[in-house]
Amino acid sequence: MHERGYFDEIAPRWDDMRQTYFSERVRDRVLSEARVQPRKLAVDVGAGTGFITEGLIGHGVEVLAIDESLPMLQVLRRKAFVTAGLHCCTGSAERLPVRTGAVDYVFANMCLHHVVHPAAVIGEMARILKKGGTLIITDCDEHAFAFLLEETADLWMGFRREDINAWFAEAGLRDIVVSSTGEQVCVPSKSTDNCANNSIFIARGTK
Ligand SMILES: C[S@@+](CC[C@H](N)C(=O)[O-])C[C@H]1O[C@@H](n2cnc3c(N)ncnc32)[C@H](O)[C@@H]1O
Repeated sequence: MHERGYFDEIAPRWDDMRQTYFSERVRDRVLSEARVQPRKLAVDVGAGTGFITEGLIGHGVEVLAIDESLPMLQVLRRKAFVTAGLHCCTGSAERLPVRTGAVDYVFANMCLHHVVHPAAVIGEMARILKKGGTLIITDCDEHAFAFLLEETADLWMGFRREDINAWFAEAGLRDIVVSSTGEQVCVPSKSTDNCANNSIFIARGTK
C-alpha cells in the first residue's frame, strides 16, 4: 500500500521532519486537554516514532502504541524514554487489536488525514474506550494544499470541525469539544516553493 510505503521509507527521518512541521506545544496541548493521570492506560493510534507516547510515558501513563508501519515503531522502541509501561504493536486504525471498553484514553495525532474512512476510524477508537474514557484527536483543519496528497501520502485535505464533531457524536461520544490548538503545521513542498501552512484543531470526547 502506498501509504505504508511512505512511512516505512521516512521512518528514520520522521523526528527531524516533524520538528520542522509542528512543535512540542501540540503535545503539551494534547496532554493538558486530556488531563492525563498516572497509571491509566492509553492507546496512541498512528503513534509513529512516539511523539505523543513520549509525553504520556512522562506522565506515568501506560501506553499501547499502535501503528501500521513497523519501521516507525522500530524507531520508537530504540528511544531513551522507553520503559516497562510501553507496549508497541503493528496494527491498523481501522481494526485496532484491542478489546472493547479496555482503555482510559485514545490519542491520534496527525493520523486521521491518512486513513480512508475517518468516521469509521473514530468509531473504532471509541469502541476500545472504557465508559468515561476520553478520545483526543489532533489534526489539520480543512486546507487547499493538494500537493500533500502526492508528496506526503495524505488522503484528506484536513477536516471541517463540524464533520469531526458529527463523527464523534455518531461514535456515541458526549461532551464533545472541537477547538483550535493555537498551533500551526507547516509542510514544505518538495517540488515547489509552496509551503502548506495550516491550523491544527483538537477534538475531545467522552464515552
Ligand atoms: C504523520 S505520522 C504521525 C506520527 C505521530 N502520531 C506523530 O505525531 O509524530 C502518521 C502516522 O500514522 C500511521 N498511520 C497512517 N495510517 C494508519 C492506519 N490506517 N493505521 C495505523 N497507522 C496508520 C503512519 O504509519 C504514521 O506513523
